Amino acid sequence: MSVAGESPAAGHTSSDSLGTSAAQTRSAEVEDLIHHDPGRFRVLTGDRPTGQLHLGHYFGTLHNRVRLQDLGVEMFVLIADYQVLTDRDIAEHLSEHVEGLVLDYLAIGIDPGRSTVFAHSAIPALNQLLLPFLSLVSVAELGRNPTVKDEIAHSRQSSVSGLMFTYPAHQAADILFCKANLVPVGQDQLPHLELTRTIARRFNDRYSAGTSLFPEPDALLSAAPLLLGTDGTKMSKSRGNAIGLAASADETARLIRSAKTDTDRHITYDPVNRPEVSTLVLLAALCLDHDPHQVADDIGSAGAAVLKNTVSEAVNEYLAPIRARRKQLAQDRSHIRQVLREGNERANTIADATLNEVRAAMSSIY
Ligand code: TRP
Repeated sequence: MSVAGESPAAGHTSSDSLGTSAAQTRSAEVEDLIHHDPGRFRVLTGDRPTGQLHLGHYFGTLHNRVRLQDLGVEMFVLIADYQVLTDRDIAEHLSEHVEGLVLDYLAIGIDPGRSTVFAHSAIPALNQLLLPFLSLVSVAELGRNPTVKDEIAHSRQSSVSGLMFTYPAHQAADILFCKANLVPVGQDQLPHLELTRTIARRFNDRYSAGTSLFPEPDALLSAAPLLLGTDGTKMSKSRGNAIGLAASADETARLIRSAKTDTDRHITYDPVNRPEVSTLVLLAALCLDHDPHQVADDIGSAGAAVLKNTVSEAVNEYLAPIRARRKQLAQDRSHIRQVLREGNERANTIADATLNEVRAAMSSIY
């Protein structure tokens, strides 16, 4: 447990030694470093374009990205379009979802002047990194990845595609093409980040004789508690329990009105024993920037209906400026395309340079 006493590098020794608590300790150290010197970090984060972003994404990671950007950290935001194909045959409504993601990013405050928004299918040199990277990992390592195992269990395909099995190595290319050294993630992404570190280390050892062509990036875990859906289970669009950033105020109120609660009129914040009520309390607390226990105390014995009204108002008020901005931006599709084109261009310049270094290190420039 005494990871805090170790040097940062010691936390990176093997894929099994970096547990969640170590990642949390390291995240706290990194937070300190960010505040002192944001310029030493380059962040890469991303999303699969599978549908609208919701409040679970927002409080889990999006909010944090804007915070980091505004602290002066250089930011790359990836639209992981190839990764949509890991658990389905066809990426449906892809261009609509990609544009929707760009809209969501701009609406929450990602500034394309400071942050690079791009899609990885548009960056050939990034994708070429996958080949040498795959040579650095074993089939057994790919097969052990707990997140991939879980996704295979929930996949809608009858057989597991090669992409499902190998996408964590592709994710390493997403991160390493721009030599990002910090990746804000949820817990489920930690195995991918550990693989990224392994690939970086092995590449450096094998091909760049001790010099660090690639950094070994750190995970930055969100400090916010996990926000569940309105039924107390994982927030997900497909479960109908997610509040979309772009949903209307009426849709939001309706969803919250239909949320599950329990028979105890007295409202408390007790995520373990009362997950449904606590999810609602947490939603209001995050939007109001209050402590959830305080929010629960304020409602006291007024019951679930008052709780729901409080939540609806808090959420709709919080999202109102984001929604208004999104609506306004949506009127100019050419601007959205332009943001993406410019982001792709910037990412391509960096990816080409990195691939050149990789080819030189591997003696494959002819
Ligand atoms: N795997 C991530 C998800 O499912 C998306 C993603 C792709 C990503 N490449 C990435 C996240 C690189 C962080 C870094 O949400």
